[in-house]
Amino acid sequence: MKAIEWLGGRVRFIDQTKLPGEETYIETADYRVIGEAIVSLRIRGAPLIGISAAYGLALGALGSRAVGPDDLRSDIRRISTELGRTRPTAVNLFRALRRIEDAAATPDSAGRIRAAVVAEAVAFHLEDEAMCRRIGENGARLVPDGAIILTHCNTGALATGGAGTAQSIITTAHRDGKSVRVYATETRPALQGARLTTWELMREGIDVTLITDGTAASVMNRLHIDLVVVGADRIAANGDTANKIGTYSLALAARHHGIPFYVAAPTTTIDPAVASGDLIPIEERSPGEVVEGFGKRIAPEGVRVYAPAFDVTPAALITAIITEGEVTYPPYNFVNVPSIQEQRNR
Ligand code: MRU
Repeated sequence: MKAIEWLGGRVRFIDQTKLPGEETYIETADYRVIGEAIVSLRIRGAPLIGISAAYGLALGALGSRAVGPDDLRSDIRRISTELGRTRPTAVNLFRALRRIEDAAATPDSAGRIRAAVVAEAVAFHLEDEAMCRRIGENGARLVPDGAIILTHCNTGALATGGAGTAQSIITTAHRDGKSVRVYATETRPALQGARLTTWELMREGIDVTLITDGTAASVMNRLHIDLVVVGADRIAANGDTANKIGTYSLALAARHHGIPFYVAAPTTTIDPAVASGDLIPIEERSPGEVVEGFGKRIAPEGVRVYAPAFDVTPAALITAIITEGEVTYPPYNFVNVPSIQEQRNR
């Protein structure tokens, strides 16, 4: 199953809002369809948002009527700004857009620019696939045989260009022959855990138990959890990590119970330009996602709602951060994250 594919001038992606009931794919040559899909969570997960934006910008370049290179570059910048307004937290989005803009900077004809941006978007996707594999290998070493793992949101193939981040660690450990059991939180309000993580893990043949978000601390206390592993949407230079709302509570509960709490992410999710978590922009979602559950009103009309999509887990609560390069332990100081150019040359 591929969450997104480049079909040479068209993009095909799975509509994640329909899962697990329907496996529906959308095919488009229109970057606006990609932008809408990111906003509506048909496409979601930090790495996949970045890959989709890269493909969206490539589609925008192919669809532009510009004849000269400078006009095309100006169209690319305009479309990049538009795609950059879709979701603010995952830094992967902005990295991807910058990479495609950079690829358009030097070619001397519109045709060469179009070829360069398509090649760059495809390369960005392939790199993410490789990073997922390496995150899985690096993280699986920390998973003991027989481990009971708790995870949050969805960090699998549906969230990335490959096998996932936190989830790649789980599936790699499983494929390595280790016995693993997973508790997956439902992840209110869009239920990425209940709908997507359970679906993916069951397809992999991994033993998964779905719990409501509020059950996690109790499972740590009354049952047993060996480790928690989650993904990230943006990691600040000091290791503070923005991830799906509820992650911070899990980290607090894990600390109280003496359970290791790992964050897994590609280096494209690290933002050395942001010194600490309080500077990470946190997206607020529409109140509708909280007061309604799949089309049905569940809260009184007129109720005030606070609905941040993400929270920030302080670095002090994170046992280690697992990237494609290494496992980093505190104190975190991500000022020397490889540049985009270095990542490209790996
Ligand atoms: O709102 P979403 O579904 O895009 O949020 C996704 C998450 O928070 C994931 O944990 C994160 O992007 C890591 S994905 C590998």
